[in-house]
Amino acid sequence: MRSTIDNIRNFAIIVAGAPFAAAMGDVEFWRVAQTDRGPLGKLAMGYITRQKKLFRNYWMLQSDVDRDSLSDLSKASYSDDELHGFASKDFWRGGGRPLEEQQRGLILPVVEGVIADRHPGRVLEIGTGNGDISAWFAKRHDDVHFTGIDFSVKHAAELHSANNLTFLKGYALDLLEAGQVKGDLLFASSTFVLFTPAELRRYLRAIVAAGFTDICLSEPTFRYDQFNDGRAFSHHIDNAMWFHNYAGYLRDAGFHISDHFCTMYTNPNGTAGRVVLLRGQR
Ligand SMILES: C[S@@+](CC[C@H](N)C(=O)[O-])C[C@H]1O[C@@H](n2cnc3c(N)ncnc32)[C@H](O)[C@@H]1O
Repeated sequence: MRSTIDNIRNFAIIVAGAPFAAAMGDVEFWRVAQTDRGPLGKLAMGYITRQKKLFRNYWMLQSDVDRDSLSDLSKASYSDDELHGFASKDFWRGGGRPLEEQQRGLILPVVEGVIADRHPGRVLEIGTGNGDISAWFAKRHDDVHFTGIDFSVKHAAELHSANNLTFLKGYALDLLEAGQVKGDLLFASSTFVLFTPAELRRYLRAIVAAGFTDICLSEPTFRYDQFNDGRAFSHHIDNAMWFHNYAGYLRDAGFHISDHFCTMYTNPNGTAGRVVLLRGQR
């Protein structure tokens, strides 16, 4: 009997709280839960404590919202040689498709456009994973040097080798700030999504200081729209993932946005997601 009453109460709180959570947005709802001692604050806290995922995310948001370096969760997820699955050749997102048809292949034409227009001599990829993207470019542009950085490059280096291709192990921000990597064009696929907002700003400062004049990104946008404007804002999504309005952050760092568009990508398992592709130069 007691558990039936508890279930009904839990259900009622979730049903009552959901419209407020949807109308106010997760971040504001979490803030109200923490600060408002009235009925709305109690409802928000009741809702959050029953929605385990939201609750867990609340603590992740709190621990990372002001952090300007690698989050503990990213570190834990990407600390071994498998890089959470992204280091292996046949990661399910690839599903046996050629690179051009994989989600990580969406960035290929964007980077190709910059190589054709701006003739960079040195190109850096942050979060190279299995190294497929940098290797694809290295094969086509033997007059350009490509470097892929990741926490592990064991698999990338086993899979690919070329005179104009280097894989570097490490936290890219440390390498940039220490002046150990410099270049003209920097790109990333599904990697800036893991940076906290303050870490993203710090990265962009280091990227500019290291002399990069061009940047290309292909990043998931989740359920939020991306705006090609000057607003630099972020939302915590789940685990180590963040939505960032990249055009705003890039503009703040001194880049002009020359291409900006969103597209849908359908994975081999049928799930679809929005991805933003953008190109900035200064
Ligand atoms: C979601 S995976 C994407 C991998 C690859 N770019 C792709 O599209 O398949 C993100 C990758 O970025 C790496 N990574 C994340 N933050 C990084 C950082 N600050 N420095 C170096 N590598 C990073 C992770 O280890 C992981 O391999």
